[in-house]
Formats: sequence, structure tokens, C-alpha cells
Amino acid sequence: MIPLLRKSVRPPRPRRLTLQILRYNPATPEIAPYLQDFAIDESDGMTLFIALNEIRASQDPSLQFDFVCRAGICGSCAMLVDGRPALACRTLTRDCGPRIVLAPLPFFELIGDLSVNTGKWMRGTAERLQTWIAQTQPVDLDALEARMEPALAEAIYELDRCIECGCCIAACGTAQMREDFVGAVGLNKIARFRLDPRDTRSDADFYELIGDDNGVFGCMSLLGCHDFCPKQLPLQTQIAFLRRKMAVEGWR
Ligand code: SF4
Ligand code: SF4
Ligand code: FES
Repeated sequence: MIPLLRKSVRPPRPRRLTLQILRYNPATPEIAPYLQDFAIDESDGMTLFIALNEIRASQDPSLQFDFVCRAGICGSCAMLVDGRPALACRTLTRDCGPRIVLAPLPFFELIGDLSVNTGKWMRGTAERLQTWIAQTQPVDLDALEARMEPALAEAIYELDRCIECGCCIAACGTAQMREDFVGAVGLNKIARFRLDPRDTRSDADFYELIGDDNGVFGCMSLLGCHDFCPKQLPLQTQIAFLRRKMAVEGWR
């Protein structure tokens, strides 16, 4: 009997990846934006965070991009990956093709290359929308804490998971046309404080903040925000609910 030939099992060869990165530094406007290719070998479990760090360490220390947590928590590493907003630290290269095109998030102030100033916009929007618990009475620090039903605490926590990454703004058609639009991130924050019984604002107060075209009535409901939110926040439901409530308020 002829013995069966066993195929030798070779580990798969690592792919050679090309990261094509949009380069531009506003500090040197005389150098026009350009695309630059960087080639690297893919490793097991490689994320775009790892790939970019390898490139910066071994090929170009001037490459600008932002990371803090590497765990999808801080929201600082959002960028356009093949044209779609995503967190670089949560994007595995194995889920991408051999050529990956990276660009900074649109809409936000560009710091350089892939780094944008989402923090400045988020802070400005938080101040505009007063995204904190507003109380009309002075707080009695000696009083016992009020109980909150677990289901309500859960519902608030669900919306509080926003990491202010800016992906929803980058995916939003209205935000690209209307620079004062508060976006899904802003509307989600209003929905969060509207739920909170410690916040004494009424719907009339919230209407003053978001009852116009820069708020909930500017939303075109195309749901790019919902599709690209890396935390899978229920943006579609929240925006639709808020719009109904604000429309009722507007009729009063
Ligand atoms: S709502 Fe989602 S996409 Fe928008 S900033 Fe928050 S986490 Fe990011
Ligand atoms: S649904 Fe509204 S907030 Fe979301 S991406 Fe579309 S226009 Fe922007
Ligand atoms: S580095 Fe913090 S979310 Fe990616």
C-alpha cells in the first residue's frame, strides 16, 4: 500500500501591508497635503495602533497620531480607515486589505497628519449644551443620597458610555454642512441628562438648547452616526425619541 503523503504544515506567511497615510502639517502650509506609503510586515493580532507605532519607531518619527488607552476607552485614536470613521486601537489589520488608507477625521481642527483636536470641539459643545446635572436648589451635602432604581441607573449608564471619539460627527452629513450642529454626541448627552432625575431642567429648557437646526431638527436621520459609533450607543432610538419630545415642546 502506498503511504499517504502528508503535506508539511507551514505557518502562513505574514502579509506585507502598505499603509497609505494622508500627511499634512498646518504648521508648514507651504508643503501641500500628500499621500505617503509605508510598508510593514503584519504580525498576529496586529492593530492599526501597533502598525502606526512600528512605523513611527522604525520609519518616520515625525508621523503624528493620537493614542492614550489602546483599549477603546479614551476615544483619542479615531481616524478614517479606508474612508470610514473607526478607532485605530480597535481595528485589526487582518480585517483590512493589504493596502490600508488612513486619513484624519474630517470636521475637527487638524493638529497634523492623523491627529485632530476633538477635545476642543467636545468641550465647546459641552459648554453650549450645559452637559452637567443642573439643579435649581442648593445641594445639601448632609442629606442622605437619593435612591435610584437600578433600571434607570442602567439606562443612564448606557448613554454615559460615549467616549467622545468623534466618529459620529465624522460620519454625519449635517455636521459637514453646518459647523454649529451638535451632532449625535451632543444629542446623546442631552438624552442622558434628560433621563437623570437629579437634573431639574424641563423639556422647555432642553428645547432652548437643541430645538433648532443646529440641534435635533438639523438631523437628517441618515444614521451614519449610529452605524459608525464604536461603542454601539443606541443613537437612532435616542435621536428619534428626542425629536418627538422637542417637536411636542415646540408646539406648546
Ligand atoms: S456617540 Fe459614539 S461615535 Fe459619537 S462620540 Fe460618542 S462614542 Fe464616539
Ligand atoms: S442621523 Fe442625524 S446626527 Fe446621525 S449622522 Fe445622520 S444627520 Fe448626523
Ligand atoms: S487609544 Fe484610546 S480609544 Fe483608541
